[in-house]
Amino acid sequence: MVSQDATTEDQSLEFSLRPQTLQQYIGQDKVKENLEVFIKAAKMRQETLDHVLLYGPPGLGKTTLAAIIANEMGVQLRTTAGPAIERPGDLAAILSSLEPGDVLFIDEIHRLHRSIEEVLYPAMEDYCLDIVIGKGPSSRSVRLELPPFTLVGATTRVGLLTAPLRDRFGVLSRLEYYNEEQLTEICLRTAQIIDIGLEEDAATELSRRSRGTPRIANRLLRRVRDFAQVLGKTTINASLAKEALDRLQVDRLGLDHIDHKLLMGIIEKFRGGPVGVDTIAATIGEESHTIEDVYEPYLLQIGFLQRTPRGRVVTDLVYRHFNLEVPNE
Ligand code: ADE
Repeated sequence: MVSQDATTEDQSLEFSLRPQTLQQYIGQDKVKENLEVFIKAAKMRQETLDHVLLYGPPGLGKTTLAAIIANEMGVQLRTTAGPAIERPGDLAAILSSLEPGDVLFIDEIHRLHRSIEEVLYPAMEDYCLDIVIGKGPSSRSVRLELPPFTLVGATTRVGLLTAPLRDRFGVLSRLEYYNEEQLTEICLRTAQIIDIGLEEDAATELSRRSRGTPRIANRLLRRVRDFAQVLGKTTINASLAKEALDRLQVDRLGLDHIDHKLLMGIIEKFRGGPVGVDTIAATIGEESHTIEDVYEPYLLQIGFLQRTPRGRVVTDLVYRHFNLEVPNE
């Protein structure tokens, strides 16, 4: 129960840390600049904003952007997730309860069932629901009008979206990993909100170890703050940050013990690969989709892993990172 409570506290804190406007939102400059134009144009025409698909690795701010879009448009946000919608009727109920202009945010939209996706097509295209009444030869279809709305879909796996669904979004925005300066700025902003002193080089250290991901930066900052608090310090300096991060088993590139297990597993059991994701997953006891969605994208980005037709291969950088002899060198 203790860890459950801790998670809840962290989650509510994470919510209160979220920027409310595009102005407050740090990074993702291209996405932000484009959204600014589309929002402004829709407001000038007094129209509903076109449907937006946000995609990219977890923790980069997709949910935050959906809330900002609703806020900037001056409408309500309704939030749900692909796996939470079990039957077409569930989606129909949500859609028919929207107010004109509302933003409906569907997280993990790649996990919607096909039968539910089909309810979305006419809803997105013509703002209507086609409902089938009755069964067999006497069944008939009735069309229900819906208020105009904006669907904001989020996914970590855009490749898993069906083409008809992807094609119905007017705006497709890819979120990228954040750079060190942007993460430093985010850490400094968060430190102010949670009321802890954070020296600039401590913020840099945190951002270096956050895998380009604000959610991780904010989580590490909260954990480092715990160390500071117990030590009776009101300001985090670089040496405290380093010590705490080492104790959290986050290495200087932000890799944690699962990344280590994954990379060392490929080296020790499969001579560096190639090896399939399902095999890696089974050997280290993680879900394949967690590896693909959460761990792999960053390891690919920093050049530690490569994807080949025969599976994943670790690169020389991994051997060097772990101070191991590089094979065939
Ligand atoms: N907190 C988390 N992500 C953020 C972002 N992109 N900008 C500002 N604060 C954030």
